Amino acid sequence: MKLIERGKAMSSLKNKNIIDKMSLEDKVKLCSGADFWNTEEMDEYGIGKISMSDGPHGLRKQDGVGDHLGINDSVPATCFPTACCSSSTWNVDLLEKMGRAIAEEALEYKVDVVLGPGVNIKRNPLCGRNFEYFSEDPYVAGKLGAAWIKGVEGQGVGTSLKHFAGNNQENERLSSDSIIDERTLREIYLAPFEIAVKEGKPKTVMCAYNKINGTYLSDNNYILRDILRDEWGFDGVVVTDWGAMNDKIEAFKAGLELEMPSSAKMFDKMVIDAVNDGSLSEDYVNEAVDRILSLIKQCTLGRRENFKFNREEHHDLAKKIAIEGSVLLKNENNILPFNKDKKIALIGALGNDVRYQGAGSSHINPSKLISIVDGFNKSRVNFKYCPGYEMNGDENIEYVNEAIELAKSSDISVVVIGLPSEYESEGYDRQHMRIPDSHVKLLEEVYKVNNNVVVILLGGSPVEVPWIDSTKAILNMYLSGQAVGDACIELLLGNECPSGKLAETYPIKYEDNQCSHIYGIDPRQAEYREGIYVGYRYYEKANKNVRFPFGFGLSYTTFEYSNLKVSNSKINEGEKLTVKCSVKNTGKVFGAEVVQLYVSDKTNLVYRPIKELKGFKKIFLNPGEEKEVDFELDERSFAYYDVKSKDWKVLQGKYEILLGASSLDIKLKADVEVISSSESLNDDNLPEWYFKLQGYPTRKDFEKLYGKEIKPYKLPAKGEYDLNCSLNDLRYTNAGSMMLEQMRSNMLKGFGGDENNQEFIFLQAITSTTPMQRLAQQSGDSELYETFKGIVQMANKE
Ligand code: BGC
Repeated sequence: MKLIERGKAMSSLKNKNIIDKMSLEDKVKLCSGADFWNTEEMDEYGIGKISMSDGPHGLRKQDGVGDHLGINDSVPATCFPTACCSSSTWNVDLLEKMGRAIAEEALEYKVDVVLGPGVNIKRNPLCGRNFEYFSEDPYVAGKLGAAWIKGVEGQGVGTSLKHFAGNNQENERLSSDSIIDERTLREIYLAPFEIAVKEGKPKTVMCAYNKINGTYLSDNNYILRDILRDEWGFDGVVVTDWGAMNDKIEAFKAGLELEMPSSAKMFDKMVIDAVNDGSLSEDYVNEAVDRILSLIKQCTLGRRENFKFNREEHHDLAKKIAIEGSVLLKNENNILPFNKDKKIALIGALGNDVRYQGAGSSHINPSKLISIVDGFNKSRVNFKYCPGYEMNGDENIEYVNEAIELAKSSDISVVVIGLPSEYESEGYDRQHMRIPDSHVKLLEEVYKVNNNVVVILLGGSPVEVPWIDSTKAILNMYLSGQAVGDACIELLLGNECPSGKLAETYPIKYEDNQCSHIYGIDPRQAEYREGIYVGYRYYEKANKNVRFPFGFGLSYTTFEYSNLKVSNSKINEGEKLTVKCSVKNTGKVFGAEVVQLYVSDKTNLVYRPIKELKGFKKIFLNPGEEKEVDFELDERSFAYYDVKSKDWKVLQGKYEILLGASSLDIKLKADVEVISSSESLNDDNLPEWYFKLQGYPTRKDFEKLYGKEIKPYKLPAKGEYDLNCSLNDLRYTNAGSMMLEQMRSNMLKGFGGDENNQEFIFLQAITSTTPMQRLAQQSGDSELYETFKGIVQMANKE
């Protein structure tokens, strides 16, 4: 740890004149929020407050009661497509435009920092929050995140890059420990943050709730100070996720400045005592205050009086992103696009009560909403609608029969199916990868009577598609925001050509996923045993067939790749390489292609995936038009993270440059030789799994990679309970179970006794599994903190 010398630190502070005047108490006070969304205002020092709001795909500005779960009201704002959809555009310009538009809404609503984007890696398809994240690939996630940040920050509004880091599951997200080996951490889980920090330059970074390798992120000196600040040069503010503070003294040392929300200033006394007794240098507090003051200054400068954003323009932008982010997964006999005059049966309740966003802190109150049914109406399509199933996913035989009759008398059935909102949310993970049986049954029945079927798939994460033969087409619209209906009909009618590509793999079945055997089994201790083999990096090397590969998406037109040119066939380590190719639209309509560049390491000197994405470009082409696409590769494009030397290294030898339309559809290849002095990592002692990927890695295998013994997680027992335990941990004690029941029944009352209410399920899952200290912080209720202390004491004594 780099201790800052007091004198040196004070003289290098940018806001020394203000800090000099502040009492220790006030300095500490400034380092946690004034309330749920605002920082402290201190007139006596001329310090104004700044205001923050979620989130990644639109503004959730709460004028009334604040919450971090998306439950209470927020002002109307444009609900843009969620990250699972916006990432499928692979269009950095569009992501930047989306950022700019969200910033404009923030300017009107006087929000200084927007809490997004989320660039966590989609490690497993069941993560309840995958819809808020971009990709299974660090390069895509980093580049899109950086573009979004540039868009927001370019308007003078701040961003908060989240959730830093290793937050790849929702179950037990507030207490889980992500056990990740160093190479994997660098290459997969930190890499998107690194790109987004270096290229996007966010004003703030939000630390995640979880631990990495035993240390909560709020106190994680290695991640927050050594890597984020010293290595990547981040000089903004690190803010806690809402209630993610673990140990505020350690957090100051780790370089975390701002605790949100206020936590009723629960930890202030502890910090002041620590400074007074010398266990915490006041330099740390000064350093934090200095950065917060700089942030406030920058944000204040960015404000614009009486700014108004254009609601219609933003809706249109949401529509454009939804169009480009929808992925055509199947189109047998070119059933799509269809003609407006065809008789259409539009079937599926999700198309009417449309799913277009996810639940939790990113939940937007949309400025308007065009359902799929609305979209059909607006375009005057000749159609009739029927629900086909209950909204919660339950089967309804009458609805099915009605759908069958409608399908019989129609030319084409458009069946809207997918994940009902209860299935996925912030706060908990999905239990399986299937859509409801009622949706599948409906589809099969409709297909039997009329096999001109088109599926519109809605949901935030990959699903199993065993029903693929019961439809001619699948248009995956993910959760595509408030203009979903506008976008859908344009694509179906061919007014727009699909150009979305998956930023994640769709495995055939859940069990094919690299961590399905271990994910969620012990959610408190998430062992990332598969190491760097995430998504396509795993499926390909393990020889698993997939349903739809990473980077895949169909179009109404066709493209031809040719003329691959690399600037050099031999380069020295560190030298740049230019790669070019030509792409021609060989079909009949205007369309866009996402050209993907992968690098394949042929040196065989270290364990590595078969290929890794190192570049992508989206190009738009008229029929017959041809364009040249160019990429620049640098040292990092070839490098792996060498744990021994704690650095990125490029090994000497042969590499292949692959250009393609998906990870499995490689169109052009070229060999390149790299001359380098780097010696290879000694992989000899590594278990065979990391080279062959047969079966699953065991804990013993992983320990060799991790370099340390890993003890199985043990639930705390009597005498070991503390405030980092959740009420669920104390459920077998009288004190714990009573408190659990009391909180449950109080909450249930608020939902009129409806146990199936989604918000109730969500809240119940969150409150029972949240470490008590964090629950108290989030509620801002210092009495609750005291009650929990009492419960812990009683439970330990029972
Ligand atoms: C979420 C964050 C969000 C914050 C504030 C937390 O629960 O994890 O993503 O920004 O709440 O709403």
